[in-house]
Amino acid sequence: MSASARFARFGGGYGRMSTSQHASSFSYSITRPYPYRWFTPVVVVGFIVFTILFSFLNLVTSGYTLVVQQSADPNATMANNGVWSRHIPAFLTNKVQPSCQTVNVPLGSELFTNQTALTYTLTDVWQPSGGGAAAGNGVAPSLTYFNNILENCTVNSVEIDYAAMDRTASQFAYSEWGAVVRTYATCSIVGTNGTTNFNVTQEYDYVPSDVSAMTLYTFLGTNFLSRNKTSKSSLFWGESLMSMYWAFSTYQMQNIRANQTSNNQPAVRKGTMYFYPNTNKVVSNMTDPDFFQCDFRFIIDKSLGNYDIVYPGSYGEYKEHTQLSTLLSMQAYPNIWQDADILAKAAYSTVLADLGQSSARSNILLDPDQLKYFTANFSEARHNIANAYPGPAVRQYGTEQSGPLGTTPSTLSASYLCQVPQRKSIGNLLISVLVADLVFLQVVCRLMTLSPT
Ligand SMILES: *[C@@H]1O[C@H](CO)[C@@H](O)[C@H](O)[C@H]1NC(C)=O
Ligand SMILES: *[C@@H]1O[C@H](CO)[C@@H](O)[C@H](O)[C@H]1NC(C)=O
Ligand SMILES: *[C@@H]1O[C@H](CO)[C@@H](O)[C@H](O)[C@H]1NC(C)=O
Ligand SMILES: *[C@@H]1O[C@H](CO)[C@@H](O)[C@H](O)[C@H]1NC(C)=O
Ligand SMILES: *[C@@H]1O[C@H](CO)[C@@H](O)[C@H](O)[C@H]1NC(C)=O
Ligand SMILES: *[C@@H]1O[C@H](CO)[C@@H](O)[C@H](O)[C@H]1NC(C)=O
Ligand SMILES: *[C@@H]1O[C@H](CO)[C@@H](O)[C@H](O)[C@H]1NC(C)=O
Ligand SMILES: *[C@@H]1O[C@H](CO)[C@@H](O)[C@H](O)[C@H]1NC(C)=O
Ligand SMILES: *[C@@H]1O[C@H](CO)[C@@H](O)[C@H](O)[C@H]1NC(C)=O
Repeated sequence: MSASARFARFGGGYGRMSTSQHASSFSYSITRPYPYRWFTPVVVVGFIVFTILFSFLNLVTSGYTLVVQQSADPNATMANNGVWSRHIPAFLTNKVQPSCQTVNVPLGSELFTNQTALTYTLTDVWQPSGGGAAAGNGVAPSLTYFNNILENCTVNSVEIDYAAMDRTASQFAYSEWGAVVRTYATCSIVGTNGTTNFNVTQEYDYVPSDVSAMTLYTFLGTNFLSRNKTSKSSLFWGESLMSMYWAFSTYQMQNIRANQTSNNQPAVRKGTMYFYPNTNKVVSNMTDPDFFQCDFRFIIDKSLGNYDIVYPGSYGEYKEHTQLSTLLSMQAYPNIWQDADILAKAAYSTVLADLGQSSARSNILLDPDQLKYFTANFSEARHNIANAYPGPAVRQYGTEQSGPLGTTPSTLSASYLCQVPQRKSIGNLLISVLVADLVFLQVVCRLMTLSPT
C-alpha cells in the first residue's frame, strides 16, 4: 500500500468523520445556572405571585359571562351582583358589571305600587323644567322609570258617580244603585333626568261590571290586589272604609229614590259629585265637614223624557252651596252628603297611603283618633246595605285586632331586564384561566431569559 493511498484512505476516513458531525437545522442553547445566590427562591416566589395575579385578572376579565335576568328590584339586583367592584379598577370590570334597563311606562298603562293595593291609570307625564304642561313643553308620551320612590303625591280631587238601573243585571243583584269613585292624584319622581311629574287616576267600584252574580252575600275583595291585617293595617282599614261606605251610601240612594217614587215624586236617576280640597281655607282635620268642597249634578228623571238637574245653584248662591257644612245643615235633597263625603275621604286617604305618603297633611288611616271617628257607625252601616257585603273589617277600629297604622315609601311595581355576571362553570373556568395563565407565564419566562444577565 502506497503512502498516498494510505493518506487517501486516512483522508477518506477523515472525510467520513466530518460528514457524521454535520450542522443540524435545529439547535439548543447551553444553559448555565445563574450565578446569584437567591435566584431560585426569587423565581419560585415570583412564579407563584404571577400565577395568583394572572389567575385573578383572568378570573375577573374572562371568568364571568353576562346573563339576562328579570328583576322586580333592580337596585338590589345591581348591589348584590357586583364582581368585587369596589376594590378593582373599573376598566377591568366594566364588562362584567350588573346593569338594569329603565322601564318605559306608556300613557294609559295600569300601575300599582309595591304596597299591592289599588291599581292606577297613568294619564299625564311632564317635566316641570321643560316648561310645564300648560306651555305644551316637556309633555312626554311615557314615564321613564327606574324604581324611583314616589314623592310629594297629592290628591287633587275625588269624584263619585252614582247611578241606578244603568248598570248590568248582575250588578243590580248586588245593589240597585252603584257608585264609581275616581281619585285623581299627581306625583313626582327624581330620576336621572331630574324631576318628572305624572298624573294617575284610581277608579274604584266595589261591584264592577265583570263581577259574577254567584258571589252574592260574601265579601268580594275587589279592586285591592292584596290585604294584610297586621303588616298593612292602614290599607286594610282603607279597604274596609271604602267598601263599607260604598255599600252604605248606595243603599241610601236607593232609599231616597224609593221614598220619592212611593210619594209619586220624580226621583234622582244618577248623579256625580266632585270633591276637592277646600279652596277658601286650609282644613287639616278630616273630621271637619269643610275639609272638602263639593260640586255636583244630580239628574232627576221626570219621566216622559223630561229631566231636571240639581246643582249647587238650585239651592241659592252657587259658591255657598259647594260648602258641605251648608248642604249638611239644610239637608239638601238628595241627602247623601255625609255618607258620600266619608266615601270620598276614605278614597283620598287610601290612595295617599298606597302611594306611600306618610307626611300627608292629614289622613284618616294614619291617625287612630280619626279612624275611630270614621268607623264609629260601622255596625249601623253594616245593617243598612243591599246584597253587596263590605269588608274585611265590619266593626269599629279598636274593637278588632289589627297591626299598627302607618305606611312605607312606595315604588311602582315593574319588571326590569337586568344583565348580571354569572361565573362560568368550574370546568370551563379552569380551562380558560389555565390557558390564559400559561400564556402569561410563558411571556414572563421569555422576558426573563431575554433580559441581559
Ligand atoms: C316599597 O319599596 C320601598 C323602596 O324600596 C321600601 O322602602 C318599602 O318598604 C316597600 N314597601 C313595601 C310595602 O314593600
Ligand atoms: C294633572 O292633574 C291636575 C289636576 O287634575 C291638572 O290640573 C293638570 O293639568 C294635569 N296635568 C297635565 C299635564 O295634564
Ligand atoms: C334605585 O336606583 C335609582 C338610580 O340609582 C334611584 O334613583 C332610586 O331612587 C333607587 N330606588 C330605591 C328604592 O332606592
Ligand atoms: C317635594 O316637596 C318639597 C317641599 O315642597 C320640595 O323641596 C321637593 O323638591 C319636592 N320634591 C319633588 C321631587 O318635587
Ligand atoms: C333624558 O332626556 C333626554 C332629552 O330630553 C332624552 O333623550 C333621554 O332619553 C332622557 N333619558 C332618560 C333616562 O329619561
Ligand atoms: C301578613 O304579614 C305578616 C308579616 O309580614 C305575615 O307573617 C303574615 O303571614 C301575613 N298574612 C297573610 C294572610 O298574608
Ligand atoms: C220622603 O219623601 C218625602 C216627600 O218627598 C219627604 O218629605 C221626606 O223627608 C222623605 N223622607 C226621607 C227619609 O227621605
Ligand atoms: C278634629 O276635630 C274633632 C272634632 O271637631 C276634634 O274632636 C279633634 O280633636 C280634632 N283633631 C285635631 C287633631 O285637631
Ligand atoms: C254616626 O251616626 C250618628 C247618628 O246617626 C251621626 O250623628 C254621626 O254623624 C255619624 N258619624 C259618622 C262618622 O258618620
